[in-house]
Amino acid sequence: MVPIETSGLTKYYGDLCAVDHLDLSVGNEIFGLLGPNGSGKTTTVLMLTTLLEPTRGSARICGFDTRDEAQEVRRQLSYVPQEMAVDVKLTGRENVSLFAKLYGIAGRDDAVDRALGMMDLSERADDLVRTYSGGMRRRLELAQALVHEPKVLFLDEPTLGLDVASRRRIWDHIRTLRSRGMTIFVTTHYMDEADASCDRVAILDRGRVVAMDSPAALRARVGKDVISVRVTGSVRGPFPEGIEYLGGRGDGEAVFSTDCGSEKVPLLFRWLEERGVTVRSISVHEPTLDDIFLALVPTREDGYGFDDHKFRTMLRRR
Ligand SMILES: Nc1ncnc2c1ncn2[C@@H]1O[C@H](COP(=O)(O)OP(=O)(O)O)[C@@H](O)[C@H]1O
Ligand SMILES: [Mg+2]
Repeated sequence: MVPIETSGLTKYYGDLCAVDHLDLSVGNEIFGLLGPNGSGKTTTVLMLTTLLEPTRGSARICGFDTRDEAQEVRRQLSYVPQEMAVDVKLTGRENVSLFAKLYGIAGRDDAVDRALGMMDLSERADDLVRTYSGGMRRRLELAQALVHEPKVLFLDEPTLGLDVASRRRIWDHIRTLRSRGMTIFVTTHYMDEADASCDRVAILDRGRVVAMDSPAALRARVGKDVISVRVTGSVRGPFPEGIEYLGGRGDGEAVFSTDCGSEKVPLLFRWLEERGVTVRSISVHEPTLDDIFLALVPTREDGYGFDDHKFRTMLRRR
């Protein structure tokens, strides 16, 4: 049975198309849904978890239709929303016990202990949540979601607002859950995290999938090397042959792809200097999901990164 399957899944809010004909098939894997703010990630998760009715199309979780068999679907899954509150006046154990009750497994102390243990919270289980760090609260939310042993776990921006060490720890736990056979559907806009941990990702822009593959395969599409240049002022094309402009990021950074970085770096450097552009730094690295994102998704003012539209328009005019 396919854990998550959608066909033409579409959601309109009035005239706004938030999710546009999404076709997904997710197996026993960590599947990342990536995209800038407002690209439709949360709307997708809400439809998959039966909390929001699609305008068109359908979705199945472990073979059950989210619309016609919502009760069955809910039994298969857990959902940790982006903004979830744990009750700080209760202990960690009490919070998880509440969820056990909610899922109809009240009194199953073994299940509560197991969920707390999986998230490394056993030792602090009887302390008030008020005394927990941000990372511990996130892990407690995961423990709540795990108490009824779901087959499919939906996480909306699970590492948002956490420090680097806590983020890493959350991902360690997510990978452990996958190795136990759970399907994990996770949204994030931290490209580096998706790169390191997702088996496959779909990149959303304005409700549409613009790319879907393993991080490695997506990287391969961009080319062998990426050159990142920081300049004072602006640069304009057309650029030398074999150097393709991917986009710009904040702080005067321009990003290029090429098949041979070591050869093209001096060439690009000279080319820029000849045009009176001051190069503050220039470096070569293997493509990251961030670079792919830059190449695929035109940046908008409300979006991820910064507004690079003017730069692109300028290039086109030349
Ligand atoms: N309840 C709603 N009513 C109207 N528009 C909404 C609602 N929820 C989200 N939107 C809009 O739908 C688009 C997708 O939003 P969302 O799914 O929250 O994106 P993401 O999670 O990727 O940031 C955005 O343009 C957002 O403003
Ligand atoms: Mg969201």
